Amino acid sequence: MHSFARWILVLIGLTLALSASAAKDPNEDAIKARRAVMTLQSWYAGPLFQMAKGAMEYDAEMAGIYAAHLNTMANVEGGAMWPEGTDNGAYAGKTRALPELWTTWPEAGKKAEALSEAAAALAEVAGDGLDALRSKIGAVGKACKGCHDDFRAEKM
Ligand code: HEC
Repeated sequence: MHSFARWILVLIGLTLALSASAAKDPNEDAIKARRAVMTLQSWYAGPLFQMAKGAMEYDAEMAGIYAAHLNTMANVEGGAMWPEGTDNGAYAGKTRALPELWTTWPEAGKKAEALSEAAAALAEVAGDGLDALRSKIGAVGKACKGCHDDFRAEKM
């Protein structure tokens, strides 16, 4: 092969390699998306916990709306946000998801299911008064904590 042609091939190869390394890692998008879901779950659950504790005045309309949205967030299609190989070892500093989430699957799936059920039960009654809210909020808190205890690292 002419040395010129070889150079062109080398250049093409370099260009491809550079554009590949500049491309975004889709796993990082997935990590961002699942953390966003968690952030929103927390956003909607927060005032409900506050009301239940008496740290915020109970507001039936707001409680109903927040519980409905928490229920939505607890049921978004999120499977693809948890690709294998995106634990806190492989993506240190980017995620707190522990490897056990994958190695003990479907345990984490059961925890997600528990939240889904608890959030649905809460959404049904959250607007019916403080006692009704209190009767169902505990299971939600337990569902969050139950999964975090096993599958989320304390720190990034
Ligand atoms: C099925 C397991 C599971 C359930 C249920 C769950 N979480 Fe999480 N949560 C995680 C994992 C794993 C992470 C770490 C995600 C990451 O860093 O990639 C996380 C992260 C978070 C974060 C940090 C988000 C960030 O910015 O990194 C918040 C806040 C949070 N969860 C709130 C909640 C609340 C509130 C609930 C209940 C309403 C809840 N989670 C239910 C597993 C769960």
